[in-house]
Amino acid sequence: MNIILLGPPGAGKGTQASRLEADRGMVQLSTGDMLRAAVKAGTPTGLQAKKVMDAGELVSDEIVSGIIGDRLDQPDTENGVIFDGYPRTAAQATALDELLAERGRKLDYVIELKVDEDALVDRIVGRFTCATCGAGYHERYKQPKVEGSCDVCGGHEFKRRPDDNAETVRTRMAEYRAKTAPILPIYEARGLVRRVDGMADIDTVTREIEAVLDGR
Ligand code: AP5
Ligand code: ZN
Repeated sequence: MNIILLGPPGAGKGTQASRLEADRGMVQLSTGDMLRAAVKAGTPTGLQAKKVMDAGELVSDEIVSGIIGDRLDQPDTENGVIFDGYPRTAAQATALDELLAERGRKLDYVIELKVDEDALVDRIVGRFTCATCGAGYHERYKQPKVEGSCDVCGGHEFKRRPDDNAETVRTRMAEYRAKTAPILPIYEARGLVRRVDGMADIDTVTREIEAVLDGR
């Protein structure tokens, strides 16, 4: 099964995708994570992407669809993928259709996480991750069980994303409204969209997504 998690910055795409990966053996493909890895590694793509990401704007369609195409050639993606943060433009949606068709695969669902934009800034500016294993946390909604120690790996170092400040978040939201939200009707016309209330607590959102995937 191949699904897209669609929603604005902070909607919970990454949180839910990593849960589905752990619970269902599907593979999470986050273009944001892949681009951040390229920035960290200092690759030519990373160098090009860094400025754009720090400004909250979108990296070029060619770069992100190229990364996704390469990733879909790896055999671990054959049993199902969760697209997290991709596609984000009409051109990326078209590219994804082609990338899947070329490999004899198809999209099963587009899950839209419906959220209240005012709550998102709060979610994003409170977010931090484990510097060792990447596990995600939030100052108020998801603190480590033992203060200062990662639940997953026990690491003691945490970090924040450079684009997680109130000003850049506003640009990211505007990009979502202008370029990403308009792709929903394309998928709606194909009967693929299922809406989930992204304002519910994290466990409830997971249960609702699982119900969609199980056809309940
Ligand atoms: P990307 O990394 O994709 O960031 P984003 O879309 O802005 O999404 P976020 O990671 O901020 O949010 P999320 O929905 O995953 O929420 P999360 O689960 O973390 O992209 C970053 C940049 O890369 C872009 O701006 C662009 O420059 C570039 N880029 C990436 N993909 C691209 C593409 N396809 N094309 C072009 N450019 C691209 O949750 C947020 C917080 O809230 C967490 O702390 C979490 O613990 C908490 N939380 C989650 N769910 C809940 C809940 N239900 N209740 C309470 N708290 C919750
Ligand atoms: Zn960790």
